[in-house]
Amino acid sequence: MKAIILSGGKGTRLRPLTYTGAKQLVPVANKPILWYGIEAIVAAGITDIGIIISPETGEEVKAKTGNGDRFGANISYILQDSPAGLAHAVKVARPFLGDAPFVMYLGDNLIQNELGGLLTDFKEQHMDGLIMLRPVANPSAFGVAEVDAQGRVMRLVEKPKVPPSNLALVGIYFFAPTIHEAIDRIQPSARGELEITDAIQELIHQQKRVEARQIEGWWLDTGKKDDLLEANQIILDTCLQSDVCGEVDERSQVFGRVQIGAGSRLINCTVRGPVSIGKDCHLENCFIGPYSSVANNVTLVEVELEHSVILQGAKVTGIHQRIVDSVIGQRAQLKTAPQRPKALRFMIGDDCQIELA
Ligand code: DAU
Repeated sequence: MKAIILSGGKGTRLRPLTYTGAKQLVPVANKPILWYGIEAIVAAGITDIGIIISPETGEEVKAKTGNGDRFGANISYILQDSPAGLAHAVKVARPFLGDAPFVMYLGDNLIQNELGGLLTDFKEQHMDGLIMLRPVANPSAFGVAEVDAQGRVMRLVEKPKVPPSNLALVGIYFFAPTIHEAIDRIQPSARGELEITDAIQELIHQQKRVEARQIEGWWLDTGKKDDLLEANQIILDTCLQSDVCGEVDERSQVFGRVQIGAGSRLINCTVRGPVSIGKDCHLENCFIGPYSSVANNVTLVEVELEHSVILQGAKVTGIHQRIVDSVIGQRAQLKTAPQRPKALRFMIGDDCQIELA
């Protein structure tokens, strides 16, 4: 059994965060989203992993993730020249996959469920495809399944205007090698992509064995800002363990589950967990409230913050209103004058969203 993780694509929905970086490397609780997928695959006993990368962000994904040693896996990188669709990515991965059955994991998805039980079902019941479904409020944004009373998949459609049900396709799939023939038979969709949804539909059409399981735990597709904040909240809530390596001075107070990385200094700060603070940060006269993640090399001076994600190298100083529900990108700078500012001065990149609430 092998695995492929799709970490190519355009990443347009997380812009401007992803103008300069891969969306799969955006951190959730200070760990790249992609790494959660690798860990889940390794936990299910699969160590031969191919990561699909794009020409734009592939080098960054490779440099950050490495050859797999840190995960106990063997990682190969597979270049997809253009984001021509999920099924196209499988085509490109064919030499790596050979005739092995495989798990396909979308690099921006996170699920709570472990993969082990599903993998056993898939293998023991000799399925051609096993998909996961989850009821959602906005099915038109996903692949959607129509299932019969016994839970068998009757039909799959990608991002339908009029969805046949509220059951969305989760971005984690198990396939037998028969999927390759199905992919060879499909044509690009209206949006110009070779859709894996159409290839699974083709398996169904060929009377192959395709099953679906509804998952109970949380599922996050970290495509947009609010999804990212929600993922951050859930992971901090469920996985964070206290670990203070940095320096906390005697005027600072730390409550609840809090992680502070080595080389970070907190001076006269209050931190109320769950909060994750990375390495080599400087925090002075700050309140850091629940569900916040602060990446490495961040400077925060006179800042109140909660339910927010601050990315690597950002610098925020002298903001006297509380910052909430915010994502601040890598190396971004945000500051106000020591007195109440008489004017606001901005240099704001394309697609940024600023709300003076
Ligand atoms: O998240 C679940 C949804 O994922 C499913 O419900 C849909 O059926 C499925 O098509 C997919 O839809 P998205 O529109 O969310 O896919 P997206 O373009 O965001 O790509 C998912 C991941 O795959 C992302 O990490 C980028 C990567 N990718 C994407 C394309 C199109 C590639 O590596 N190569 C590609 O060509």
